[in-house]
Amino acid sequence: MIREALPHDSAALHVSGEARYVDDLPEPPGTLYAAFGMSSETHADILAMDLRPVREAEGVVAVLSAADIPGVNNIGPVIPDEPALAAERVQFRGQPLFVVAATSVALARRAARLAHIEYQRRNAVVTIEQALERQEFVLPSAICTRGSMSSLPGAVFRLKGKLRCGAQEHFYLEGQVALAIPGERGEMLVHSSTQHPSEIQHLVAAALGLPDAAVTVELRRLGGGFGGKETQAAVYAVGAALLARATGRPVKLRADRDDDMTGTGKRHDFLYQYDVAFDREGRIEALDLMLASRCGLSADLSAAVNDRAVFHCDNAYFLQNVRIVSHRCRTHTVSSTAFRGFGGPQGMFAAEAVVEMIARHLGLDALDVRKRNLYGPAPRDITHYGMTLKDNVLPELIAELEARSEYRKRREAVKTFNASSPHFKRGLALTPVKFGIAFTSQSMNQAGALVHLYTDGSVHLNHGGTEMGQGLMIKVAQMVAEELKIDLARVHISATSTAKVPNTSPTAASSGTDLNGEAARDACRKLKARLAQYCAATYAVSPEEVVFSPNQVAIGSAKTLSFPQLVRDAFLARVPLSATGYWRTPEIEFDRARWRGTPFYYFAYGAAVSEVAIDVLTGESRLLRADILHDAGRSLNPAIDRGQIEGGFIQGMGWLTMEEVVWDDAGRLLTHAPSTYKIPVASDCPPVFNVWLWDKGENVRDIAYRSKAVGEPPLMLALSVFHAIADAVGATSRSRDPVPLDAPATPENILKAIHALHRNPGR
Ligand code: MTE
Ligand code: MOS
Repeated sequence: MIREALPHDSAALHVSGEARYVDDLPEPPGTLYAAFGMSSETHADILAMDLRPVREAEGVVAVLSAADIPGVNNIGPVIPDEPALAAERVQFRGQPLFVVAATSVALARRAARLAHIEYQRRNAVVTIEQALERQEFVLPSAICTRGSMSSLPGAVFRLKGKLRCGAQEHFYLEGQVALAIPGERGEMLVHSSTQHPSEIQHLVAAALGLPDAAVTVELRRLGGGFGGKETQAAVYAVGAALLARATGRPVKLRADRDDDMTGTGKRHDFLYQYDVAFDREGRIEALDLMLASRCGLSADLSAAVNDRAVFHCDNAYFLQNVRIVSHRCRTHTVSSTAFRGFGGPQGMFAAEAVVEMIARHLGLDALDVRKRNLYGPAPRDITHYGMTLKDNVLPELIAELEARSEYRKRREAVKTFNASSPHFKRGLALTPVKFGIAFTSQSMNQAGALVHLYTDGSVHLNHGGTEMGQGLMIKVAQMVAEELKIDLARVHISATSTAKVPNTSPTAASSGTDLNGEAARDACRKLKARLAQYCAATYAVSPEEVVFSPNQVAIGSAKTLSFPQLVRDAFLARVPLSATGYWRTPEIEFDRARWRGTPFYYFAYGAAVSEVAIDVLTGESRLLRADILHDAGRSLNPAIDRGQIEGGFIQGMGWLTMEEVVWDDAGRLLTHAPSTYKIPVASDCPPVFNVWLWDKGENVRDIAYRSKAVGEPPLMLALSVFHAIADAVGATSRSRDPVPLDAPATPENILKAIHALHRNPGR
């Protein structure tokens, strides 16, 4: 059951088109379609809003603006700092101002464009630099320090500079969508494509002025979330629910792709300033790092995203003396949000860039510098935030990957190739990943489940997690089948609903399987205990003599019942056959004031070797080969895990090489459609792509059958692609200066870096 390479439970439905997403649900009669009227200004006061032309447009049934919201006008998930519908002021281009319901999607969208809005423009802050200059932050800045910076000023080996990594659009295949169905007494049922049904429930209830209990949020699956639907599904759900309440009719609100891209937040782009001292061998002696992220108009999840960046500024390396200053910049752009890795990739980006530039400066192989800086035995086993690493497998895992990928031999081959190839250069990099697993906010590390046994022996499984393609449902079902010792086919996966499991956390932080799987097991254990109790009483044995084995239950030595028979008998004997389950992760605590504690339960590890070629004349790059060794612990489902590793890696490669989010100086998002925004496609996968699950992998924690979370960590393996490109760029010059390559390594940025290295040929 567990550890089997089973296909995704919906795989066949995905490819046949039978899998139902929100927009595929049969629409109740009378359903209306909605669209937002959006700001055409970046930062402005609203002087007047004439919605008459919208109201009078063909097919329009209702038009609502901020004043029509009966409850709270807010979609801010942590801090109530973002209106669902802007009232006096707009703070980014594309911000919703009003919402229209009409008899068709086209009529709603057409009407939404007819408003006359009078604005008074204000100065806009668009870039991180502008926000830093004006000290415009969405939250107070944070600082994490250990040791001292005293060795920096006089250091023999020291590098200083600036770095940058780009934002990223989630590009989930299914766009943002919600279908709100009004019930009696103001009740509202919302089908929402969200990673966080409970939060949608709260925000919809607050907007409608209803108790949470009157709102139910349900969904079977998302067509991808990647963090983009952790908070940002809310405005669509609230918009649809407001209109459903106002009209008494079901309302569906689905953003078209351009509006989705302009209207929803992306991965935070970051600006870094580093100052690093190191010894002759490349060991980091002190690192002074400033990181600043573009947060957009509101806080959204930026508190936790920047914190996770700070937590991961070490990546895999022991930083004895370190100071990290973290700024969250307020800009007049859409609010940046969660994206696979949640700040972790941005933190690691800095660590890996620093290690690469040290190696280049000293003329060493970057792998050797990496190895020298790795965490190791005490005292090199404590992170900069004071957590002791108890599961560091990287020295061993890296050595294994180095051998399997023939790193050293290929390094020589790359050198030989480059020596005789002026126009094409190759590059090679091995980068590790150490990623902390848990929500860094303690209260979020809990989950619930609901399991029913029916009298035919089939099992209804429900829990608070959401399926977004990552394979959560099949993994939890495998855990349930294992716990009950029954065939997986008996376990029926059901839609996530706030009415079945309340007060859930978002499915995020890669902890979906850990949390919901353990909650479901807890429910199963309760049911098993009741069944054992029943057997003991009925057959005069002790409960310990009741043994669950595949599809049957042995009661002492005399009696054996099939699982369905036992359930049926227990029902007749009036044994309750439904149980809730619960899990909370122990030992997580963190003191943000001191920036010390144990924010993670364990770490997931991996490493990747990438080899690329670049065209020195055009700046184009290509990934020729990737070798990945990833630690998914004792994998629950190697097929699913492999899919997560491959997908995460390619998505990370997209972020670092081709996906470029561009706002112009006026705050207009120029990359608002697939025509202007390039994500990786099948042909971008490397021709040689070796993905190995680490067979020695085993979680030190007894959770999820000692598997490890795998949803986000592999994305960061793609840093190897970026650094292989930087390595190839570096090969165009003898300079020992840091390769001035910003992410994403687009052809343009690669050419810029080549030219910059040549302008400054070094010593
Ligand atoms: N995989 C697919 N196919 N689609 C997704 O939207 N989201 C990622 C990752 N893998 C995602 C995915 C993100 S951001 C997270 S946090 C995890 O899945 C969440 O699911 P898990 O906790 O069950 O791993
Ligand atoms: Mo994932 S970014 O934690 O939804």
